[in-house]
Amino acid sequence: MEIVLASNNRHKVEELEYFINDMCLKRNTSGVKILTLSDIGFTDEIIENGTTFEENALIKAGTVAQKGYIAVADDSGLCVDALGGEPGVYSARYAGEPCDDFKNNELLREKLKDVPEEKRGAHFVSVIAAVFPDGRKITARGECPGKILFDYRGNGGFGYDPLFFYEPYGKTYAQMNAEEKNAISHRAAAMKLFCEKFAEEIEK
Ligand code: IMP
Repeated sequence: MEIVLASNNRHKVEELEYFINDMCLKRNTSGVKILTLSDIGFTDEIIENGTTFEENALIKAGTVAQKGYIAVADDSGLCVDALGGEPGVYSARYAGEPCDDFKNNELLREKLKDVPEEKRGAHFVSVIAAVFPDGRKITARGECPGKILFDYRGNGGFGYDPLFFYEPYGKTYAQMNAEEKNAISHRAAAMKLFCEKFAEEIEK
């Protein structure tokens, strides 16, 4: 069986590959081959105009599934309590296009500059979707709770990592190594659930 990962983000493709291979090993499901968009020569632009993470993940996977493949896609972002869930699905382009992590972080700090410590709760969300060529769909959501710091802490990661503080570790995402982040991150939680649902679907 071939699965196409509908993402051009190498980092996400590697993470998904890791979890899908792990699922195959644990369930003794052999023969799942993972392809990328470039492997299938897919170059169309996909417009992510959904208003929820689920909609966007399904738009991406659905567009590729129309070409006859089992397609898997993810959508993720940061939801800040004091901002009514912003930036949410607009996380990547919060400060406008082209996407710029530093500008996004500065905008977030500016909007939260008068918000006190105890009201700075937030969570990351990741939704992973699969769409089959016959129209079947699966979605899985993972979340990770934290709070937004006033100032940057740590040099690793990407996006909002240096502002997102995870209390149980006493660290920001940007201070974690890959192993630490993969144990608790929103994407890891979504991937684990997704792999269970996906394995059930293909074993039906
Ligand atoms: P997507 O690629 O459309 O899913 O956009 C995700 C955006 O959400 C990224 O550009 C980041 O701004 C943010 N984001 C998602 N996951 C993370 C993470 O693990 N760390 C930091 N920022 C993240």
